Amino acid sequence: MAVHGVGLLTRLPLCVQRRSRVQRPILRLFSCPGTVAADPRREEQPSGSAETGSEDKTPKKRFSEVQKERREQAQRTVLIHCPNKISEKKFLKYLSQHGPINNHFFYESYGLYAVVEFCQKESVDSLQNGTHTPSMSTEAVIPFRSRYFNLKLKNPSNQASEQSCIQCSNQLPPSSKKVFELLRCAESIDDQLNSLLKEFQLTEENTKLRYLTCSLVEDIAAAYFPDCTVRPFGSSVNTFGKLGCDLDMFLDLDEIGKLSAVKTAGNFLMEFQVKNVPSERIATQKILSVIGECLDHFGPGCVGVQKILNARCPLVRFSHQASGFQCDLTTNNRIALKSSELLYIYGALDSRVRALVFSVRCWARAHSLTSSIPGAWITNFSLTMIVIFFLQRRSPPILPTLDSLKNLAELLLKEFFEYFGNFAFNKNSINIRQGKEQNKPDSSPLYIQNPFETSLNISKNVSQSQLQKFVDLARESAWILQQEGKDRPSASSNQPWGLAALLLPSIANGMALAKKKGKKPANETVKNLLESLKSNSAENSTNTNRKRTTSP
Ligand code: GTP
Ligand code: MG
Repeated sequence: MAVHGVGLLTRLPLCVQRRSRVQRPILRLFSCPGTVAADPRREEQPSGSAETGSEDKTPKKRFSEVQKERREQAQRTVLIHCPNKISEKKFLKYLSQHGPINNHFFYESYGLYAVVEFCQKESVDSLQNGTHTPSMSTEAVIPFRSRYFNLKLKNPSNQASEQSCIQCSNQLPPSSKKVFELLRCAESIDDQLNSLLKEFQLTEENTKLRYLTCSLVEDIAAAYFPDCTVRPFGSSVNTFGKLGCDLDMFLDLDEIGKLSAVKTAGNFLMEFQVKNVPSERIATQKILSVIGECLDHFGPGCVGVQKILNARCPLVRFSHQASGFQCDLTTNNRIALKSSELLYIYGALDSRVRALVFSVRCWARAHSLTSSIPGAWITNFSLTMIVIFFLQRRSPPILPTLDSLKNLAELLLKEFFEYFGNFAFNKNSINIRQGKEQNKPDSSPLYIQNPFETSLNISKNVSQSQLQKFVDLARESAWILQQEGKDRPSASSNQPWGLAALLLPSIANGMALAKKKGKKPANETVKNLLESLKSNSAENSTNTNRKRTTSP
């Protein structure tokens, strides 16, 4: 746990911590349930307030424990579409008829929604028993008893006058304008990295909504497989998720056989009669096909269902309208859950890991190195692995002096760009399992070994030109940060600097254009740009005497 007032990056280098303090959290994350230190603040969050701050968000519990706890919470939770004019007090009183409420929050997504977590699961049954299926005059309805409700006012005119001001929790990423403003006001690059993490990381409410959405999908899949589990994975749970990221979930059918495998006495063994198909892939396709149909026809709020069954990893893609999540449902994807756990553990070792990953991900997005559409570009998952590899490989492995600690802190981002700006991608692969570079086993431009399926390359899709773009931008960004260290714009300047300067698309475009024309080396273009930024800032500082405000 970081001490308040100490910068995110101004603590011991990872390699030093690895030998002392860091080993304890690792042990704790793998240890048996009784030894896990719970983070009491997580429970103390008032309803409706988001957990903020990178330090607070650093997970302290084992991955499986968090999953179990959140899943159980979600099963006691309901989603309610509310009228826009509603008295929160009356709403809570009305729902309390079914049992005590543990937690609730409101959010907006094409209408007002409430997420209400009861203390007991029985309250959900009671609420469902008191709910009726609407009848339509012109259309027919498919009666489906779910935990997604629609609340109507019996007498709207009475309530309108009493409505209280409802606070809605934010589910969206910050605007670029807000991000640049925050970065501009920060005190150091270290502070900027921290601010970016704080603004983009998933809030407590957003995480709850993700688990609830999986739980609602599980109810639908349970029509076919009563003992199935729908588990979230990927950035929704690995602590590297940004607000607005997709919701990856997988239908886990592994528990079905196990539940009934109770040892019985006697000479016989009982098995279920089952249908056989030629391969596991075909079984997956058949299961997903039927669940896809079910979501499409009966899933309240599930729209745009696409069955992408011929992909390497077959999936069903759909939008969950009420939560606003783009969902990818797969099945038999335990390896992906393992990868999520691995990243969760890396993220928990040191808060700097997440700060660096978020900044590098924002940088990559700002320059279109990554995209939400599948293609030949680097994925966020690959990018996260690249950052982890860098953190595994960096030095020095000795205790630095206090002065050099501070330098080291601000250097981390620059070092990252320098490292990959000079990495021999043509001959070396990235190996997270062993934390070292190795000869590439094939000619893929970027080779990142899958840590669990070691014969596979997780970045096989990346083309030579996309990799080259990554390398070029990394070099230029390292250079910009180097110059920043020497001469930072004045405090009163409105000019973006540090990380903000790296996220400006104009710099990348300028570089690309210059390269295309073959006129000047890219560094020179950047130098000129920086010169003009500096002269602008000099002008600005004579015009305004405003001081740079420091972040709280
Ligand atoms: P976002 O861009 O925020 O969604 O990041 P993400 O980590 O969720 O990535 P994505 O949605 O593309 O993939 C979800 C998860 O699937 C990842 O976290 C990995 O666990 C897994 N995954 C994605 N791509 C690969 C791959 O190429 N190989 C393997 N083995 N797993 C992958
Ligand atoms: Mg994802």
